[in-house]
Amino acid sequence: MSSSFLAINFAYVISAGMFIFGLKMLSSPATARRGNLISALGMLLAIVVTLFSQGLDYKWIVLGIVIGATIGLIAAYKVEMTSMPEMVALFNGFGGIASMLLAWSEYHQNPQMSVFIGIVASLSAFIGGVTFSGSMIAFGKLSEKIPGKAILFKGQHIINGAILVVALLSTVFFASNAESLYWVYVLLIIIALVFGVTSVIPIGGADMPVVISLLNSYSGLAACAAGFVINNNILIVAGALVGASGIILTRIMCKAMNRSLANVLFSGFGAKVQAGGDGPQGEIKPASAEDVYYILEAADSVAFVPGYGLAVAQAQHVTRELGDLLEQNGTEVMYAIHPVAGRMPGHMNVLLAEANVPYDQLIEMDDINPRMDSIDVCVVIGANDVVNPAALTDENSSIYGMPIIEVHRAKTVIVLKRSMSPGFAGIQNALFFMENTRMYFGDAKASIQALVAEFKGGN
Ligand code: TAP
Repeated sequence: MSSSFLAINFAYVISAGMFIFGLKMLSSPATARRGNLISALGMLLAIVVTLFSQGLDYKWIVLGIVIGATIGLIAAYKVEMTSMPEMVALFNGFGGIASMLLAWSEYHQNPQMSVFIGIVASLSAFIGGVTFSGSMIAFGKLSEKIPGKAILFKGQHIINGAILVVALLSTVFFASNAESLYWVYVLLIIIALVFGVTSVIPIGGADMPVVISLLNSYSGLAACAAGFVINNNILIVAGALVGASGIILTRIMCKAMNRSLANVLFSGFGAKVQAGGDGPQGEIKPASAEDVYYILEAADSVAFVPGYGLAVAQAQHVTRELGDLLEQNGTEVMYAIHPVAGRMPGHMNVLLAEANVPYDQLIEMDDINPRMDSIDVCVVIGANDVVNPAALTDENSSIYGMPIIEVHRAKTVIVLKRSMSPGFAGIQNALFFMENTRMYFGDAKASIQALVAEFKGGN
């Protein structure tokens, strides 16, 4: 074993350690930024060591780095926080196609593949191809370049099942004699690209964060397989980490919605959403800015419950300002976080962190629910499904069983939204008609600005 081989793999072990510590630190908002940086430095180390380790043709690599880094920098600076899932989808897709192309080019370098390498090259091509086209569809749905709703087609399960069987047979066939079966490899790539489309198109746009997380996991598996093809240890490790963390995140999201992964992937959830929303109807009690001001002014404890509407209205900064004013007024202020509020994992944490809301004021759903009866006022800001009591009480509801923030148990609930439109699940919310609920209609940012003005005027 040469000393350079040992040195390279030693550096790879350090990179892998940095990935793992970085991932661990992502689990708390207080350490997440540092975790991200540490993982990024681990990746930089891995890239630098790889570049210096072999007799490579640098002109193409440098060109690739310059183009890729420019696109990445511009995209990262320009992207709106609410468009983050779209960007992740796009970059995920690029990761998938990179693994696919890597394995494909390796075949051209060395078509005499062993059975094992033939299998991992096929996996890399198939999973990478599915990740690419699936991510492009997810991107299209989220950016509304194609219709976001679930597009169901006749025989979709049979067609998708048949594609998987053909892919499996092609892999076995190709691996048995890779050198003379190039056409099988090309066929595998084509059916992978088709499968990405046919498997993602029947899934509704609002389920895309779960799909993206799953595709993220696939991109890791494709990279891991590509790592075996080119015999690169850090690619195997990094791919396995991405694969595992993607599937864990997918599971967390499904659990928080009380839906199985099969339900997300195959049920066409959201395909039949109606304009007004199914569910309870009744009398509501609208409130003005002045009414809400008097309720908040008299409260000892206030919990803000943000949802997708907070992100749409970009109301995080004014919410923080209102929170500060309430604290100056002697009120205890909390921010209750539901794990799938919004449209991407950690959506609310990211928005509130952007507005510098202190981390100790962010209370997870499981921690705030037990003390809900003692909270004076819950201010629901553009959240709907995640506070719908039907999830607890109505067995026929499509969200039955989903854990919710039980705001209906607070003494008073103020709901900020623009209309009576339903949320993502397409169902009306019984909370809006409850005795202790007041509806404060309007764009969340403008509504909270009006409250801030009332507080400032009142002081
Ligand atoms: P939703 O149930 O989607 O409700 C959002 C509410 O925000 C709507 O009722 C809307 O009512 C209101 N809104 C929109 N724009 C607004 C604005 N400018 N000002 C004020 N209000 C505004 O959101 P949620 O409670 O956050 O629940 C999230 C949903 O997404 C859940 O069903 C969850 O399962 C699903 N989901 C989430 C994820 C992740 S990872 N977060 C992944 C997949 C699915 P108006 O139109 O009347 O204003």
